[in-house]
Amino acid sequence: MEVLLAEHAGFCFGVTKAVDKVYEQIDNGKGNVFTYGPIIHNESVVNDLENKGVKVIESEKELENIREGTIIIRSHGVTRQVYEALEQKGLEIIDATCPFVKRIHNIVAKESANGKIIIVIGSSKHPEVEGIVSYASGPVYVLESPEEARDFTVDAETELCMVAQTTFNYNKFKETIEIFKEKGYNVNIVNTICSATEERQTEAEEIAAKVDAMIVIGGMHSSNTRKLYEICSKKCANTYFIQTLEDLQIDLPKEVKIVGITAGASTPKKIIEEVQNYVRRKL
Ligand code: F3S
Repeated sequence: MEVLLAEHAGFCFGVTKAVDKVYEQIDNGKGNVFTYGPIIHNESVVNDLENKGVKVIESEKELENIREGTIIIRSHGVTRQVYEALEQKGLEIIDATCPFVKRIHNIVAKESANGKIIIVIGSSKHPEVEGIVSYASGPVYVLESPEEARDFTVDAETELCMVAQTTFNYNKFKETIEIFKEKGYNVNIVNTICSATEERQTEAEEIAAKVDAMIVIGGMHSSNTRKLYEICSKKCANTYFIQTLEDLQIDLPKEVKIVGITAGASTPKKIIEEVQNYVRRKL
């Protein structure tokens, strides 16, 4: 079986940095190490960290019982309120918020303070978007799709500022921009989709268009992996979403000669290699 492996598959630099920070704490022998939310959407990594004593804090409520220790903020960032709560507790904060996400916080805080209405293009329930929204001091709207953008109405003179979740689908973002332009809105658009995501999505789309079957590896809860799956499915009808090699029980049609592989930002190299070797040897 011929395999086309995406160069931009797997950990991006923001995730690598966040995961490394956690392992650094363990290697330095620190006790009471916490992460605010799972450090990445990958069960094997999170389980490994748990076995090494790292605890995951899921909510502000859980935070109440913690008196001391080190807390690592993951690459998605946290809301302003959570950050303040962490500071008030006097915990040692290691902020691994990706610089691309931090940039959005800063844009939103500045533009909102200047009186602009903030439009965030992304998934409203995603922790990254919740964090972004929290930096607005005035009105802020989250639009999840071009359809929602079509339904959104505002006075033509209103000053708007539009940003996107870092992992948003680039084509859908462009579509949304077009809709706003057609409506004649007064909008300052900042493309905040991170280059790692853009490159990953473009490359995945190109590979999916060339192959007979496409495998997308990543966590079920990883929105960037789901978006990759969505993009690849449009170009290749035989697209499969798997978390680990164990999920790879595919009966490929006989005519399949070339298989493409890509992976979300939280997929460790080891899993990508395992899948790649398996496809080359067994399928
Ligand atoms: Fe950062 Fe982009 Fe990764 S925003 S965490 S480099 S996907």
